[in-house]
Amino acid sequence: MAQDDSTLQFDDKGNLRHLLSLQGLDASLLTELMDEAEGYLTAPGALPVRSQSLAGRTVGNLFFEPSTRTRASFDLAGRRLGADVLNLDVNTSSRKKGESILDTIYTLEAMQVDIMVVRDASDGVPAYIARHVAGHVSILNAGESDVSHPTQGLLDLLTIRQHNPDFKNLVVAIVGDIQHSRVARSASEALQTMGVGELRLISPPVLAPSEGRFPGARIIHTLAEGLKDADVVMALRIQRERIGNLDGVPGIDEYFANYGVSRESIKVAKPDAIVMHPGPMNRGIEIEGALADSPRSVITKQVRNGVAVRMAVLNRIGKMMSMR
Ligand code: NCD
Repeated sequence: MAQDDSTLQFDDKGNLRHLLSLQGLDASLLTELMDEAEGYLTAPGALPVRSQSLAGRTVGNLFFEPSTRTRASFDLAGRRLGADVLNLDVNTSSRKKGESILDTIYTLEAMQVDIMVVRDASDGVPAYIARHVAGHVSILNAGESDVSHPTQGLLDLLTIRQHNPDFKNLVVAIVGDIQHSRVARSASEALQTMGVGELRLISPPVLAPSEGRFPGARIIHTLAEGLKDADVVMALRIQRERIGNLDGVPGIDEYFANYGVSRESIKVAKPDAIVMHPGPMNRGIEIEGALADSPRSVITKQVRNGVAVRMAVLNRIGKMMSMR
């Protein structure tokens, strides 16, 4: 993200207007969003929280890359706050016929879509759109290439806080295809803003991040060293769709043997360490299925938190809009 994009996120009164990245969101704003998200959580089996705070507003979901969790949770979050939600079918949208992204955006703007949730495979698309939309429209980044995925970063932060709110004394280990992961980028930004004790990024050398991509993190290539005494272990998928040349990327068995997060490999972590995964999971490759289903796994909690965090973000944007 270019330097001034973090200021683009706020309006002239300092309110969050677009959510493009977690860079530029300070610890108090991250905390407020997490606190608000907590308020949207109800016990399993209970009815979800509903409000009419976005009644009259329209949220458009524009996902130009596949998505299950993020898209479904933005959809539910918008509906539970009383908004109309439009899910654009990208396979039949005119962008497939060569329409530029801005023409698609202006079309939705003309239909009075106020909040556009955008996922795209290219760098810079959310900020580019944010620079071109009308003054009353907000853009929420739902996954930008390998650059950022801010609501995922927020839900990961909340899930970690529920385990242990003492960020300064936590060791967080993220394992997998770090170089191509927007999830790792946003989680790292959020954790560092909260002053995380130690952030470790573990991957085979071929999937390690390029120089300067994760300032302040420890880059490690051996799983046992990376997981030692960790409080939080997050496994990530190999993002094959973002890797031009797969030469040198370990095969499935070799990968699982050396970097698979499993009941065996996690033995060196803290006895109460939690296991996270943003999904979609490849069982038996980056994570052992039995571990993903075990009590230490907080993977379904992450999904629950995802709806709550998106409600918190949407509600804040809605409040900003109604203050105009
Ligand atoms: C991730 C994504 O799309 O960046 N998934 C998600 O949003 N829950 C991770 C992935 O695709 O591996």
